[in-house]
Amino acid sequence: MMGAMDAIRADRFTAAAQVPLAGRFAQVRGLSKALAAPLSDADATLQSMPDASPAKWHLAHTTWFWETFLLRGHAAGHAPYDQRYAYLFNSYYEAEGPRHARPSRGLLSRPSLGEVLEWRAQVDAAMEPLLDRAELAPLIALGLAHEQQHQELLLTDIKHAFAQNPLGPAMFARPQAASRSARDEPGWREHPGGVVRIGHSGPGFAFDNEGPAHDVLLQPFALAERPVSNADWAEFIADGGYRTASLWLSDGWAWVQAEQVEAPLYWREDEHFTHAGWLARDPAAPVTHISYYEADAFAQWAGARLPIEAEWEAAAPGEDPAQGNQLDAAGCPLPRGDTGWFGDCWQWTRSAYLPYPRFRPAAGAVGEYNGKFMSGQLVLKGASCATPRGHSRASYRNFFYPHQRWQFTGLRLAKDI
Ligand SMILES: [Fe+2]
Repeated sequence: MMGAMDAIRADRFTAAAQVPLAGRFAQVRGLSKALAAPLSDADATLQSMPDASPAKWHLAHTTWFWETFLLRGHAAGHAPYDQRYAYLFNSYYEAEGPRHARPSRGLLSRPSLGEVLEWRAQVDAAMEPLLDRAELAPLIALGLAHEQQHQELLLTDIKHAFAQNPLGPAMFARPQAASRSARDEPGWREHPGGVVRIGHSGPGFAFDNEGPAHDVLLQPFALAERPVSNADWAEFIADGGYRTASLWLSDGWAWVQAEQVEAPLYWREDEHFTHAGWLARDPAAPVTHISYYEADAFAQWAGARLPIEAEWEAAAPGEDPAQGNQLDAAGCPLPRGDTGWFGDCWQWTRSAYLPYPRFRPAAGAVGEYNGKFMSGQLVLKGASCATPRGHSRASYRNFFYPHQRWQFTGLRLAKDI
């Protein structure tokens, strides 16, 4: 492999030099382990659909990432823990060679969860001397952000797996219920439009897909002050939203009919499935686990539309991405309806996930991280209750296919003014 530092362009993957990386490394690696702590080996091996991966696979793949992109090229004399693991735990990096088929990850009963945890411990120890090497800071920041993305996926993937079990297993204690009633109509935050600058620039880590920063021209618009709630969504259902073809995009209507969709994923009467098992839904909390098609149909029904990503970002200055209901420690992630721009749920936009003007992926294997997925997906903004706090920012571009809804996906309405 080429030198990993060659693969990371400093202007794309910048890390604030003053951040104590050793402490962050220990915290991030520790959280992954803590999230999986309630799981048995059998739980951690479950794969409920091709889109989702076993918890054990996430623990192993993130470890492979450190071993491949940091230790291999930068730790003198480092030998891989097990030569065979590269084939098992490479996710999608063509430059790193062939790999085990994604839909078959749930067949990997070996290595055991215990063996994977032992590998993690050895890689953590091997990483220690690298953590204070300034020239590696950008690559280490990428590894930390990568592991945080997999923490959220670990949570949403195991939730999907447990939801298939008629016993409705809980992996975390039930969180305290919010004592609020459904809120009134949301206010609107108006923006005059004009030329606005979006995308990442300046110090601090960002993924390559967040840049280059550039100007866009916006018409005057308004965004709702809060995301759409469970109570709002119940009204949409009661009004026949899922049975009214005129509200839906053509692809969306075909999807609703083919999948016989009548409600968000994980809804059952007045309950929804959570990491604490089946719980009563909070009407005031943001709706989650909806597809892009559902979000778009709701917006049509509400006489509004979905935001474009530049509108969402332009309306966000002054909003602290570290605020809101996000993941701080191992526990049940659950939307609550906190005020703020970030947290609770990822918010669908109507913007295709495409490269920004003059975007160039980094050279080498890590250049496969984002750029090659820029086809057929939509951008989501914000952060969810399962996003590790500190991971997201205004320029962050999450992306999923329009039918996917096993993430904590919701929406914030927009309108023209
Ligand atoms: Fe990954």
